[in-house]
Amino acid sequence: MTNTVILISGRGSNMQAIVNAAIPDVNIAAVLSNSNTAAGLAWAAERGIATGSLNHKEFPSREAFDAAMMEKIDAYRPDLVVLAGFMRILTPAFCAHYEGRLINIHPSLLPSFTGLHTHKRAIEAGCRVAGCTIHFVTAELDCGPIISQGVVPVLDDDTPETLAARVLEAEHKLLPQAVADFAAGRLKTDGNRVANSHRNAAGQILLA
Ligand code: GRF
Repeated sequence: MTNTVILISGRGSNMQAIVNAAIPDVNIAAVLSNSNTAAGLAWAAERGIATGSLNHKEFPSREAFDAAMMEKIDAYRPDLVVLAGFMRILTPAFCAHYEGRLINIHPSLLPSFTGLHTHKRAIEAGCRVAGCTIHFVTAELDCGPIISQGVVPVLDDDTPETLAARVLEAEHKLLPQAVADFAAGRLKTDGNRVANSHRNAAGQILLA
């Protein structure tokens, strides 16, 4: 059983996609947040999932917040920690502590558009495609070995909002799949590259 802790900062639709996928051998041990008003917390609690939050504003430093968050996470003995819209920059200590078992979803085709406002930047740059990336987390922001990417078109009349909605649909498919692949031991990291033994000869990931 892959004990999984999910971190969120807001509505938690990606967290909901993971929970709703009811992935075999994955136990959602807890959903935690840096804000007790994150809408996703109530959704998880209604489904009997343990929830908790720590307000980062109440800590004197990023290091102090991350140390307290690690303690909270580790109480659930996670095999996997998923950043599902967790809007915090993590300290190197946090990243090192969960190395190889910490994954993030980022709403761009990395390595393009790390950081914020990814959809607006993709439109302004004239990109014809956009998407999302699931990756293992390293200390460098939005870097780390890429597990999978979802691609969507950028339409001529797209706004950041319409593009975000299209990318979000891809996120909701890709993130549960990545959790399933991790839990089934299908991901093997070699440097920056992640091999997925569930891929067919054409490079497509076979759905769980
Ligand atoms: C997603 O677009 C995710 O990629 C980004 O923040 C958003 C979170 O959405 N990091 P939700 O909270 O999962 O609905």
